[in-house]
Amino acid sequence: MTIAEPTLTAGGPALPQERRLVTDIPGPRSVALMERKHGAVAGGVSTTMPVYARAAGGGVVVDVDGNSLIDLGSGIAVTGVGNAHPRVVEAVAAQAALSTHTCFMVTPYEGYITVAEALNRLTPGDHAKRSALFNSGAEAVENAVKIARAHTGKPAVVAFDHAYHGRTNLTMALTAKSMPYKRGFGPFVSEVYRAPVSYPFRDGGMTGTDAARAAISRIETQIGADQLAAVIIEPILGEGGFIVPAEGFLPTLAAWARDNGVVFIADEVQTGFARTGRMFACEHEGVVPDLITTAKGIAGGMPLAAVTGRAEIMDAVHAGGLGGTYGGNPVACAAALAAIDAFENDGLCEAAERIGEIVTRRFGELAASDPRIGDVRGRGAMIAVEFVRPETGEPDAELARRVAAAAHTQGVIVLTCGTYGNVIRFLPPLSIPLELLVEGLDIVATALRDVHTDSAR
Ligand SMILES: Cc1ncc(COP(=O)(O)O)c(C=O)c1O
Repeated sequence: MTIAEPTLTAGGPALPQERRLVTDIPGPRSVALMERKHGAVAGGVSTTMPVYARAAGGGVVVDVDGNSLIDLGSGIAVTGVGNAHPRVVEAVAAQAALSTHTCFMVTPYEGYITVAEALNRLTPGDHAKRSALFNSGAEAVENAVKIARAHTGKPAVVAFDHAYHGRTNLTMALTAKSMPYKRGFGPFVSEVYRAPVSYPFRDGGMTGTDAARAAISRIETQIGADQLAAVIIEPILGEGGFIVPAEGFLPTLAAWARDNGVVFIADEVQTGFARTGRMFACEHEGVVPDLITTAKGIAGGMPLAAVTGRAEIMDAVHAGGLGGTYGGNPVACAAALAAIDAFENDGLCEAAERIGEIVTRRFGELAASDPRIGDVRGRGAMIAVEFVRPETGEPDAELARRVAAAAHTQGVIVLTCGTYGNVIRFLPPLSIPLELLVEGLDIVATALRDVHTDSAR
């Protein structure tokens, strides 16, 4: 059977902002591509949905069968400015026509410096800063740890329960969850330790300060500040379940690190660039990290990542100690400059806040009558719903999985997360039209109601 090819439409706002299903999900062209994937792509690379994208923009992803899906995932928190944002597309095309790569370590170019200047200006704190550019969040985290070790001359690093920092060898060690990220991939690097984090829904309402004291006590007794190069933490723990530490946790930890010669690294790979309603999530509590890692939202979908931090820490590394063939690629830098301009000037922090209010209200209201919703939490356009078994409060991963799967078949892209897999997270592009957001949330809410009906039968 030959399957008719749908008309190609450009991404960005040119795409009709609507949910439109013209086939079953997945449609025949996606099914055929999935067959090819099984024959060609390594089995370890899995997909959330069996649907192949063709174009995306605003708040929709259009698949190869012509279905228009509501995007509540942004390619895992990447396309904050919107997919195929016209100014990003224009900047990419213009730079690609001039040069696609020369390697900043060989014949450097201005765009890299301009991105570094923008990051130094935008990240929290008005101290002297430097930035270095890389390709992925994991690579930024690896380099932040290298820099902290070079600066302090100490070996140990502390990460937290529920943390996610990537899939490379060092970042697997920093990541908490075993399956699927670590299982079978050890041995992991040494000198990585884990401390408890504030998880208000599951730690009995401990205050942020008490939770920080518990973590600090663990660090002092099991490692010692004199051995510790850095603590690394996500201001909102993303893959771990959008856990927002109780107020006071991050500032107490940051103050202890400062007083003890330990580098405080904020991993803002997922929370950065207006996602939480501020340019960086640390700003919600006035925390000024020594180093900050960024990626995802930074370049409107092009691969780019950065470490930004105090000049004296960043400059501790010898010449040639940092870098990589592609780090700070000129096309990615051009995209980042266009995206950063949009983050700063197009009201995207405000858009994130509006999105957060809508999602929180919708699921907050549902939670009042549905005890399977244990918690609704997050900040800005980074909101999650944690599902539990009402009788025991235990995590209900099966419910999260079934609700997400039902939403997928109705044309809504939604992601799960959480150490226990029982969390649905909402990460829409900040460019999503609000009617589309509301429609997507209605579909998730209906899916939840129907899964309830099924299990009650
Ligand atoms: C907080 C955090 N750090 C690091 C990473 C790794 O980023 P990447 O997948 O670009 O390597 C992620 C990815 O989800 C993340 O959320």
